[in-house]
Amino acid sequence: MTKQASAANIRHWLETINTYNSTPGAGTTRVLFTKPEVEARQYVKDEMRKLGLAVKEDGIGNIFGILPGRRPELPPVWTGSHIDTVLHAGMFDGMSGVVAGLEAVRLIREAGAAFERSIVVVVYTSEEPTRFELGCLGSRALAGKLSLADACKLVDKEGRSLPEVLAELGYDLARFAEIPIRPGAVYGAVELHIDQTGVLERAGKTVGIVKTICAPTNFDIEVTGCQSHAGGTSMEERRDAYAASCEIGLALEKLARESDSEYTTATIGRVEVCPNAVNVIPGKVKFSIDIRDCDFDAKERLVAKLKAAIAVIEEKRGVQVSLTEYNNDQPMHCNTAMMAKIEAACHRRGISYQKVISGAFHDSMLVGEFAPVAMIFVPSKNGISHSAEEWTEFADIAAGTDVLMDTLLAMANE
Ligand code: GLV
Ligand code: MN
Ligand code: MN
Ligand code: MN
Repeated sequence: MTKQASAANIRHWLETINTYNSTPGAGTTRVLFTKPEVEARQYVKDEMRKLGLAVKEDGIGNIFGILPGRRPELPPVWTGSHIDTVLHAGMFDGMSGVVAGLEAVRLIREAGAAFERSIVVVVYTSEEPTRFELGCLGSRALAGKLSLADACKLVDKEGRSLPEVLAELGYDLARFAEIPIRPGAVYGAVELHIDQTGVLERAGKTVGIVKTICAPTNFDIEVTGCQSHAGGTSMEERRDAYAASCEIGLALEKLARESDSEYTTATIGRVEVCPNAVNVIPGKVKFSIDIRDCDFDAKERLVAKLKAAIAVIEEKRGVQVSLTEYNNDQPMHCNTAMMAKIEAACHRRGISYQKVISGAFHDSMLVGEFAPVAMIFVPSKNGISHSAEEWTEFADIAAGTDVLMDTLLAMANE
């Protein structure tokens, strides 16, 4: 099919979704099941219906917009991403993939193209770990890796659990057990996403074909020292939980920099210092650790070294450190046959591309547990994402959408 995606449509949808925002003037914040997020869900469902899609929602709020194929009994082809954001984010991360899916099905319908398998645009619930500290909640549940019992352990800052929030919004918790998808029930899933690195921009390529998605391992760390007087406690006597935390942070950074895997990253993104006062030595510090890699074993080796470094710091500084690992995801390799279809579409359309690794995680990381997956990246300006500065050209998303549409049609006709 030679139809071309409309950058104007893509822009309109992205800008409209972007109006659902808790922090206007300070980037976009659309946290799971807050008012703007619920309203954005409604908007997307309405747009799906306008495009002639049948809309369904499962027990965790994953949204499915279905364009039936000639043989709807066959395993369908999926595309889609997420519409929730981190705090003070941009308007492209996640939303681009949803909007590309909408534009692709609009064009497929308009062209009257024949296809056998149904094509489904999916909005996955809470890819971002903003509210419950764990990401990919919807795709995790689809993969059978988030049961109702697991969900009960996810509690937000206000002390509300995920099932509590779901029930309040009218989701039927009795349907939670029906969420997982049987392997083989989905033919394949293609997700378009922004690059979130400077790789494509530097290379001057329009499309990235993802080979592997790096996966996170997450810890909650609690460092306990001794709360005491900032002036009265000598440097020798003090057991400063913050200074110990800094040392752990630097040890982690060094281990990640020296890792034998090229794609290791390590981040401490949330820190709480207690009591957080000018003249008090912190007695307790809590912080998060996020370690990513596309090599699971390299990640495990790094964690073992980190634990050894922490033991030394505990001894030296007279502090106690507790590490709670609450997530340890497996990197996901994209399906080579689907990657080849994306590559063929790039050739056919004369769109430049290169193969890339995704340092960010995506719903495809979990969807890959039950279906073959592939990802189409489009360039991020200056490599910035998870920031109000995030930018991608609408024309680049349109080019990625052309590739997406060709790939979906090719798969839907197999
Ligand atoms: C989610 O966007 C992540 O990769 O952290
Ligand atoms: Mn993100
Ligand atoms: Mn994303
Ligand atoms: Mn992400």
